[in-house]
Amino acid sequence: MHVLIINGSPRVKKYSNTDKILAKFTEGLTEGGSTFEQYEVSDRGCWDTIRDAFGKNTNILIALPLYVECIPGLLMEFLETLTPKNKDTSIAYILQSGFAEGVQLRCGEAYLKILTEKLGCNYAGTLVKGDNFSIRFFNEDQRDKVTTPYMEMGRIFAKKGDFESEECKKFTGPEIFPLGVRIMVGLVFKTFAKKSFKQVAAEWGCTKPLDYRPYK
Ligand SMILES: Cc1cc2nc3c(=O)[nH]c(=O)nc-3n(C[C@H](O)[C@H](O)[C@H](O)COP(=O)(O)O)c2cc1C
Repeated sequence: MHVLIINGSPRVKKYSNTDKILAKFTEGLTEGGSTFEQYEVSDRGCWDTIRDAFGKNTNILIALPLYVECIPGLLMEFLETLTPKNKDTSIAYILQSGFAEGVQLRCGEAYLKILTEKLGCNYAGTLVKGDNFSIRFFNEDQRDKVTTPYMEMGRIFAKKGDFESEECKKFTGPEIFPLGVRIMVGLVFKTFAKKSFKQVAAEWGCTKPLDYRPYK
């Protein structure tokens, strides 16, 4: 199977977590006997080429980060330029995010199903996983630990051509954290994280408090 892969992150390839995830995923995909071509929507100069590849390919994988609970605006802008196809084409998605709980990606996942219909294609499932904030800041070993599990998903995708299997569904991890963990995370955000956000904001030249609401 030949797969057209589109990285839907607005971040340039070098800084994109999605790209690091795709690097491992495609290792597995290739091991499983598939070939692929990959493009980035962050590279606007490529949009004509991606549109052309979208028209020609029947196995499409769009990998994207969750931005403000749904799909990044730049990807949306690109998708709006596509001409809908016929049902010979399947689209699968890798939807990844910063926060770890599966539940917060479900709205985006539901949207991707609708989007596939609008594009006139068959929905081949979404691989859903969070906890990826730090990939681009990690050293190689730490990064490998987080991204290597995607290799197995690549192998499965090469075999099945979709993300509908139980293994892919389990890949999400916890749908929601236990109460104790949620209380702890809440405390961290109210104390330590708040302090570091304030520090970063000050370094970036922000002079107002982070909860400043001038229009309230
Ligand atoms: C503008 C923006 C909005 C984001 N919104 C969310 C969000 O709603 N939920 C979440 O879990 N992560 C969110 N994130 C984190 C990204 O999903 C996460 O860091 C992802 O791995 C980034 O992938 P990329 O580097 O390929 O763009 C957001 C990041 C940015 C920059």
